[in-house]
Parts: sequence; C-alpha cells; structure tokens
Amino acid sequence: MKATYNTLHESGLLNKAVDVALEVRQRAYAPYSQFLVGAVLIDDQHHFHMGCNVENASYGLTQCAERSAVTAATAAGRRSMLACVIVTDTEEPTMPCGACRQVLAEYGTDLLVVSRTLSGAERIAMLSELLPHSFGPTSLPARG
Ligand code: THU
Repeated sequence: MKATYNTLHESGLLNKAVDVALEVRQRAYAPYSQFLVGAVLIDDQHHFHMGCNVENASYGLTQCAERSAVTAATAAGRRSMLACVIVTDTEEPTMPCGACRQVLAEYGTDLLVVSRTLSGAERIAMLSELLPHSFGPTSLPARG
C-alpha cells in the first residue's frame, strides 16, 4: 500500500487525480440526497477514468461514483487499476459502499483506495482490506 501511495503521491499523480475527482464531483447528479461524490480510477498506464454518482427518481437505480468510474475505465479498454480516488464533502473521508467494493474487486483487490474530503482529510486502505475474503472471478469454477 505504502509503495503505491508514495509513488502516486511523489509523482504528483495523486493530487492530479484529486483535482479531477473534485471537478467530476461537481457534475454529480444527486437531486435526492444532495450528496455529491467524485471518483477517479488511475490505471496502470496512469490514465484517469472518472465517475460521479447519478441518482434516479426510482431511488434504487442510483449509480455510485465508483461504479461509474469502473464503467468509464472499461469503456476505455482499461482493466488494470492502481488506485481509486474518491472525494466527498464530509467531515471524515468516506470509503466506497459495499456494492462498489464488490464491483471494484472485479479487476483485482490489489487496489489502493484514497478518500479525501473537501478540506483535505484523507483516508487510505487497500481494497483487499475493505473487502476481505472476497468473491471474485477466480471464485468461479473454470469454464470451457
Ligand atoms: N454514493 C456513492 O457515489 N458512492 C458510495 O460509495 C456511497 C454512496 C452515492 C450514492 C447516492 O447518490 C449518494 O451517494 C447517497 O448515498
């Protein structure tokens, strides 16, 4: 975790990703909760994939920011991720919800999760810590 964190931090990539997450957070569609979330996935080529939450009048169809970022990365043809950066306007940094942890885990749990608040508080964890003993692609029997 520290190695990835330090590399991303020292290269300036982490702060760039936070800036992009702040920007995409402003585009969140959250008329029901008013809770805007921005997320950026940093892939292994150091490209950014953005996501924001998109709510729906049929509340249960709401798409979280992290899952939107997974969709964007996939559409860009990228599946190998180094980190997921999340920005929220909360006192304490927020970690991805359970559903997002599961979706993020599809491309590997060796993913650094960095959550920042607007005032700069930060919390980091590996996805493998946030979703221990996870069910993933290798849990399924081999096919074919
Ligand atoms: N939300 C996210 O975008 N990510 C999370 O990990 C937790 C929750 C969104 C969903 C909803 O639009 C709003 O935050 C309140 O739950």
